[in-house]
Amino acid sequence: MKIWLRRLLVGVTQLSVVWFIGMGLMGERAAAQEKPLLAEQVFKNIRALRGISVDDFLGTMGLMTAALQSDCADCHIGAGTDTVDWAADTPKKVMARAMVNMVANINRTNFGGRQLVTCWTCHRNRDKPLATPTMAAIYSTPDIVPDDVVTQIPGLPSAESILDKYIQASGGAQRLAGLTSYVGTGTSVGFGGFGGGGAVEILAKAPNKHATIILFKAETGRGDQIRAFDGRVGWVRTPLNVVGEYQLSGGELDGALLDAQLAFPGQIKQILTNLKSAPTTSITDLPAPSSQSSLQQEVTMGDHIVDVVQGTGPRGLLVTLYFDKQTGLLLRELRYGNSPIGRIPTQIDFADYRDVNGIKLPFRMTFAWLDGRDSIVLNEIKTNVPIDEAKFGKPAPLKK
Ligand code: HEC
Ligand code: HEC
Repeated sequence: MKIWLRRLLVGVTQLSVVWFIGMGLMGERAAAQEKPLLAEQVFKNIRALRGISVDDFLGTMGLMTAALQSDCADCHIGAGTDTVDWAADTPKKVMARAMVNMVANINRTNFGGRQLVTCWTCHRNRDKPLATPTMAAIYSTPDIVPDDVVTQIPGLPSAESILDKYIQASGGAQRLAGLTSYVGTGTSVGFGGFGGGGAVEILAKAPNKHATIILFKAETGRGDQIRAFDGRVGWVRTPLNVVGEYQLSGGELDGALLDAQLAFPGQIKQILTNLKSAPTTSITDLPAPSSQSSLQQEVTMGDHIVDVVQGTGPRGLLVTLYFDKQTGLLLRELRYGNSPIGRIPTQIDFADYRDVNGIKLPFRMTFAWLDGRDSIVLNEIKTNVPIDEAKFGKPAPLKK
């Protein structure tokens, strides 16, 4: 992959750039495996991030990329070349590896091993962290970002009451109990010119099967984007990623289970434990890339006043849910997977709720993870329809 392509893409979206480099490089190797492998079994030169799954490893790479506002190539293209060699040690990569150990040390020696210091703590979107406060930072209105972990303050409406309101708003416990499956069809909306125009199918079967399938016409040259979870095993096919397709076994697997469970609002109180509520706040829709003004119409920016509930999902997954204060409906799911260098965030936004046989379901959603965004607009949802079980399994082989 040529460096000019990277330059061309920089600024289109921060992270999506990364996918294009070395696409499908190891796809066959990873896809052939049914039993999920560890990072060091799939990759060649893993010294610091050993013993974690491929999904967590890629999330870790995403975290580094996000913290330094770089793209994969910055650490993976050697000086004087314009090709990516993932396994080669470049000076930045060596520095990053040292920093993985430094961060672990800081946390171990100062914070009892709690992951309180991460790459983001210092780097905040720059390769060299800022050392001195600027006057502008001191005297302008601070950008208030809440902590990841909610502390329950007495006197707030309880998490249970917010979930009850959501169940009511979605159609009520009785109607929701009768919802056993649904299939939504529509199209994907691109960000920065990529990923638009795909044919989308969202399939859900109670209590915990889910798939999002985005198929692109061959002439677009863009491979399909698939996330499938059959209640036990999960797969991602994301062709613009290093591995191409992989079975989930780390935080992404827990996330896939949670997403599948949350697709059926009636069971929300059984899914999460350790429930807490946070003060009412406001959330803002993800901005569309500024270079794509036409997209502003599709992805309208807005602020929403929300009730906040946090709980623990599958295998201890930290989950924060944001419910529209007015309608009671779920606007955002923010879940955090674990990694050796900090929490890996995934955010799913829901909008345009419509009535489908007495149940309110979202017709628009944006799935944002460290590896890019998929934005989906559905034009139809059919409830309680039979679904081919194969759709929840390993994605069908690519058409050659
Ligand atoms: C800040 C530097 C940095 C950035 C940015 C970065 N990486 Fe890495 N990458 C590393 C380090 C360090 C290792 C080695 C980890 C270890 O030794 O445990 C590594 C290893 C890898 C490997 C394993 C190669 C092998 O065969 O050993 C792959 C694949 C990889 N990175 C992909 C990516 C992708 C994809 C991105 C963009 C999302 C990315 N990296 C961004 C620092 C970086
Ligand atoms: C305690 C603060 C701190 C933390 C935490 C931290 N860094 Fe750094 N990092 C620095 C500082 C300071 C520099 C600049 C060093 C210099 O200029 O010589 C730096 C430089 C780097 C560089 C070289 C950048 C360049 O362009 O030369 C990389 C790569 C890097 N850090 C990666 C990471 C990664 C990955 C993490 C998380 C695992 C991390 N850092 C966590 C403070 C930190």
